[in-house]
Amino acid sequence: MKYVISLGGSIINAGIIDVKLLKDLKIILEKSKHEYVIVCGGGKIARDYITAGKELNVPSVRLDEIGMAATCLNAELVSATLGVRRAKNIDEAVKNDKITVTNGLFPGVTTDFDAVAIAGIIQADAVINLSNVE
Ligand code: UTP
Repeated sequence: MKYVISLGGSIINAGIIDVKLLKDLKIILEKSKHEYVIVCGGGKIARDYITAGKELNVPSVRLDEIGMAATCLNAELVSATLGVRRAKNIDEAVKNDKITVTNGLFPGVTTDFDAVAIAGIIQADAVINLSNVE
């Protein structure tokens, strides 16, 4: 089975990086026989920087780039933890490896969108949304 996980940035880092969660994720995924694409969100870092950018009159396109940079930082940590390279674009994200970790890919959307887009392309069996945001 193929799963896409939208791993909310607020789950990875709600102020403090959740090291235990990342350790548990590694153990679970290594035991699993399924394929996973994990799309990492930007969470609090993205929100803090975007809020500051808005106060500084940064154009919305650049705010999206700032948000995507936060998703890249989280994806670097998650991919390094899982011992895989970070998929940096949509082509790399849909290669059907056992475990793929990626970040925000398209300006103007969120990582939940990216996760669903990837799921459509790879014909995933399910999308799992891990978030603590309403
Ligand atoms: P997130 O996907 O992290 O926002 O993207 P979120 O929905 O608040 O997710 P949680 O909190 O991690 O669950 C953060 C921001 O990054 C930009 C957008 O501005 C988004 O609001 N972004 C993200 C993009 O422009 N494109 C993307 O593909 C992903």
